[in-house]
Amino acid sequence: MKTPIAADFPKGRFRRLRSSAGLRNMVRETVLTPHDFIWPIFVMDGTDGAEPIASMPAVSRLTVDRAVVAAKEAYSLGIPAICIFPYTNQGLKTEDCAEAWNPNNLSNRTVRAIKDAVPDMVVMTDVALDPYNINGHDGFVVEGEIVNDQTVEALVKMTLSQAEAGADIIGPSDMMDGRIGAMRDALESNGHKNVAILSYSAKYASGFYGPFRDAVGASGALKGDKKTYQMDPANTDEAIRLVHRDLNEGADMVMVKPGMPYLDICQRVKTEFGVPTFAYQVSGEYAMINAAAQNGWLDHDQVMMESLLAFKRAGCDGILTYFAPAAAKILNG
Ligand code: PBG
Repeated sequence: MKTPIAADFPKGRFRRLRSSAGLRNMVRETVLTPHDFIWPIFVMDGTDGAEPIASMPAVSRLTVDRAVVAAKEAYSLGIPAICIFPYTNQGLKTEDCAEAWNPNNLSNRTVRAIKDAVPDMVVMTDVALDPYNINGHDGFVVEGEIVNDQTVEALVKMTLSQAEAGADIIGPSDMMDGRIGAMRDALESNGHKNVAILSYSAKYASGFYGPFRDAVGASGALKGDKKTYQMDPANTDEAIRLVHRDLNEGADMVMVKPGMPYLDICQRVKTEFGVPTFAYQVSGEYAMINAAAQNGWLDHDQVMMESLLAFKRAGCDGILTYFAPAAAKILNG
């Protein structure tokens, strides 16, 4: 900034514009609304059931009928989108992951039920093999290697089955190379031209996903780590190249994940590309805030709202967050 932005003290006093709620409201640069949220939910088989997830206070796996109720509630709170993660029964996990593109799998049944009951709710699905893979990886494992190109073929089948079920946004969280282009071509040539892709472009190999893996029942299954496909937490330029690549391949929106520890990436992505940019405030971030609040060490609501606002300040257009309904309630007064 070249021009002086305030007179010297005491003519210039920054505290003047902080001195009342009205003045603070007038000059606030960033706002949060319920429209900023995508709410990730976990679904399971059965009817009228909810199973609490120990490491994620106030989050439960829901049966499809309960997920529909949750979607209705979210819609009435002004939350535009919901993202579905299935808890797949152990017996359906195989090496070939065929359940992933079963038109009647749990995720696809949930999509249909929600779109049926709340047609205007935007439904997002997850593309990756981990909920269906006997070894917990996002791709096929062949002789100890997570293979790329074969996995992309499976992800395309998964994408099409989700689009057929009525998903509005496909969310590839797998980090294979070349998947966005392959998915986009398949959607175009199969009559799904308006199905959007929100690419998990800059997804890091993070320790913050622990509680999520409990939630979807993948923790026990996972052999090894995901470092050969998810990003090294030390890298920034690579995130920019990945976003660039995914946009060129046909992604409509991009995501940075995890969220809070990667706000620098969010800001840089938004500044360099100016495209719809989302952050995923992941399960471990949610767990940390809740754990501290349960101990009386932090004020839950204050820290929740502050953490969400931080994403907007960094330039994000929206946030995937387990706090979505709680935060929307506060925003709606
Ligand atoms: C898996 C997937 C993960 C998350 C979303 N999709 C975990 C992983 O990559 O191991 C994490 C979400 C969270 O922690 O809240 N494809």
